[in-house]
Amino acid sequence: MARKRVALLISGRGSNMPSLIAAAKDPDYPAEIILVLSNRPEAGGLHRASAEGIATAVVDHTDFGKDREAFERAVQAHLDVHRIDIVCLAGFMRLLTSSFVSRWSGRMINIHPALLPSFKGLHTHQRALEAGVKIHGATVHFVVPEVDSGPIIAQAAVPVLDDDTAEALAARVLAAELRLYPLALGLVAGGKSSIAAGGTVRNATAVLATAHLIVPGP
Ligand code: GRF
Repeated sequence: MARKRVALLISGRGSNMPSLIAAAKDPDYPAEIILVLSNRPEAGGLHRASAEGIATAVVDHTDFGKDREAFERAVQAHLDVHRIDIVCLAGFMRLLTSSFVSRWSGRMINIHPALLPSFKGLHTHQRALEAGVKIHGATVHFVVPEVDSGPIIAQAAVPVLDDDTAEALAARVLAAELRLYPLALGLVAGGKSSIAAGGTVRNATAVLATAHLIVPGP
């Protein structure tokens, strides 16, 4: 089966990019990273992508004022040129219209730094600390018009420590994200994730049903 052509949409560091690029270097991985597109010209991830020999594009949302459709048409034009099959949002900080989301239904995924459906939105790590949860994490999900919703493909959990700062917790979650996102993209690109009748995802892959993460530990 031909490898799926993937675009990463970023707004900043592109923190998840290196691990996705690394995974895609394996010829058996079902996706290849073709394009990194940013809505911010200064996004650090663009340089990292260029250094890896990956095509980059900037569609600066400030050029489009409040016209989200025009911004998205410009984004779509780049996706068309590169014949993109799957879009991965990776720290992409623009809201997308429902028509763009519908166009990419089942082919656009996002990583969110919390165990959805908890802590949708921003400042997830600080909010997790304030809520006192003992387990936090990250989620990869299909994108639907409602932000940080949509069928959950895969999740990674990390412990929350008593003395955590939001920064320390963010770093622990990001380390988990770097493992989670390539795994989830591999499932989607390999046709192993399907949305079942109730709207939840079934993954045709093994799961260790006896794995526990208990916090605090023994
Ligand atoms: C990650 O925490 C990811 O979950 C979220 O954005 C963060 C990455 O942003 N969606 P960046 O790549 O460091 O700008």
